[in-house]
Order: sequence, then C-alpha cells, then structure tokens
Amino acid sequence: MSVRTPTLEGARVNLRAPEARDHEQMFSWYNDPEIVSPFDRFELDGFDDFLASLRATPDDPRSTAPRFVIEDRARHEMLGFVGHYEAHPVLAEVDIWYVMGRVASRGQGLGSEAVGLLVDHLLATGPAPRVGATSDVENVASTKLLERVGFRREGTIRSVLFHHGRWHDVFLYGITKAERPTPAP
Ligand SMILES: CC(C)(COP(=O)(O)OP(=O)(O)OC[C@H]1O[C@@H](n2cnc3c(N)ncnc32)[C@H](O)[C@@H]1OP(=O)(O)O)[C@@H](O)C(=O)NCCC(=O)NCCS
Repeated sequence: MSVRTPTLEGARVNLRAPEARDHEQMFSWYNDPEIVSPFDRFELDGFDDFLASLRATPDDPRSTAPRFVIEDRARHEMLGFVGHYEAHPVLAEVDIWYVMGRVASRGQGLGSEAVGLLVDHLLATGPAPRVGATSDVENVASTKLLERVGFRREGTIRSVLFHHGRWHDVFLYGITKAERPTPAP
C-alpha cells in the first residue's frame, strides 16, 4: 500500500503533499542555482524525471526529492518545499533538507517554522528518536535555522561537498526527541 503524505499544520505555514498545480514552479525552483544555492543540489532533471521522482518518493525512504510543499497558511501560496531521506546504509540517520523558493518570504521565521513541523513529524513517526541535517559551513541562513529549531552541531566533515568550483566543509547537526518538546495537540 502506498504511503500517504499527511498535512502538517503550523501557525503561519502548513506542510502538505505536492499537487499538480505546484509542479512547474517546484521544478523551476529546484533547478535554479540562485534559489537552491548553497544547498547541495546542482543537478538538472528533465520535467518528466522530476514528476516521476515526486510520485515515487512517498514509498522510497532514500529518495532525496521533495516530500512536502511549504504553504502560506492564510493565502495558500506555495513558499518552498522540504524533504527527508535515509542518509546512511547502517545507522538510523534520517536527514532533512529545506528550500524557501519564494525569496521574498525568507528571513521571517517561516523556514524555521516549516522545518520545526517536519522535525516534529519525523520524531513522532520516524524509525529513530533522532533527526539529522547537514549544512555547508558557509551557509549561514541554514546553520542559523537549524540552531533556532534546536539542532545541535555535532561535528564537521571536511572537503565533502563540491560546488562552485571547489570542495566545501559541511557541519553535521542532530536533534533528539528529548531535545524537542512535544508540540501541543
Ligand atoms: C535556509 C533557508 C531555508 C532559510 O529560510 P528562512 O525562511 O529565511 O529562515 P528563517 O526566516 O526561519 O531564519 C532562520 C535563521 O536564519 C537567519 N537568516 C535567514 N536568512 C539569512 C541570511 N541570508 N543571512 C544570514 N542569516 C539569515 C535568520 O535571521 C534566522 O536566524 P535567527 O533565529 O538568529 O534570527 C533559505 O535561506 C533558503 O531556502 N536557502 C536556500 C536553500 C538552502 O540553502 N537550504 C539549506 C540546505 S538544505
């Protein structure tokens, strides 16, 4: 049976399953280096491949494609998307990623709220009492977001991510169930 993507409701944003009306905008954001940079994704997919990956993702724990759209709760506008994937073949390591595609909506705490919803969902339903994330050490917005949500920096992996013509260091982050209070019902 196929996994159903729930809707996760926050104060200002919801996370919901991607719908057909979102696909073109998502594809355009996903493949725009100005939007995803310095996020560690720089591939160019064809639109049909992108749609196929969206369809397959709910049933594939290792998929790095988007799983939820971030939507403005009042206006129902798509602001970005988030995903999670099993990042290690042995360890119970589920890592998250996030993009606020609508640049005008950045810097208002909406990305942090969206990531908080995703973390709470994974801690409540996922296989382990932990959620992980990685961030390029130079990606200040991303490291600040993770720390605002309550992630702890656990280390640095050196020279592990190639983009913009050179190798970059990456911070490892994690948050456990004990560190994230249970959200109010
Ligand atoms: C990272 C990203 C999702 C942040 O989204 P956002 O909605 O702007 O985040 P928030 O408004 O919740 O801000 C989170 C923190 O980052 C800070 N911040 C946001 N943009 C910033 C910037 N350009 N420079 C420095 N700090 C920034 C905020 O001040 C806040 O920190 P604070 O709690 O100390 O005030 C967004 O910048 C983005 O989509 N970047 C491109 C994709 C990417 O790099 N994803 C991360 C890797 S998976």
